[in-house]
Amino acid sequence: MELQALPFQQPLDGISPKTIEIHHDKLYAGYVAKKQEIQTALNPLEHGGDLTSANQTYSALRALKDGETFAVNGVYLHEYYFDVLGGDGKPQGELANALTEQFGSMENFISYMSACGMAARGWAVLAWDTKEKALRVYTGDAHNQGGVWGCLPIIVLDVYEHAYFIDTGSDRKTYIANFWKNLNWKAANALFLQATKQA
Ligand SMILES: [Fe+2]
Repeated sequence: MELQALPFQQPLDGISPKTIEIHHDKLYAGYVAKKQEIQTALNPLEHGGDLTSANQTYSALRALKDGETFAVNGVYLHEYYFDVLGGDGKPQGELANALTEQFGSMENFISYMSACGMAARGWAVLAWDTKEKALRVYTGDAHNQGGVWGCLPIIVLDVYEHAYFIDTGSDRKTYIANFWKNLNWKAANALFLQATKQA
């Protein structure tokens, strides 16, 4: 597991370099390190180690497995988030067409996903639902809560306060508007094409 470099040039519009620096270099990097640390601890258990103490109330294995999903999703969600930043915010491609068709207009989709970001405590995720074969916005209050298996993330919006508090204080609505201003629709479209092909 390698730390992914920031995939865009700074500065963004309305999201400061300071915010991005803390978000990427400290928080995201911290999840990458914890993911590695947990996997190192799991390695012997995956290869014939002593598993007899496994217990759902408390056990070392339970603590590792709980930390594992938090750290791994912490890595992946942040990578998806950074991957769709650094663009000009102008909807384009098959994804834009599919969203317009499914939600009636691009405006409807952006309003809906923005509101989902206001209603969540951690994440709003536009995903391709491989079971329904449809675009869905799901929300999570923690990295390892609210995710739906079988769904492939396309546009991931981080709504934790660390994503905006330095720039807009408690005004999350303005941060979400800034997120859309910087959206890289080309990158999001590539994820959509990949997801629908896989599906
Ligand atoms: Fe974050």
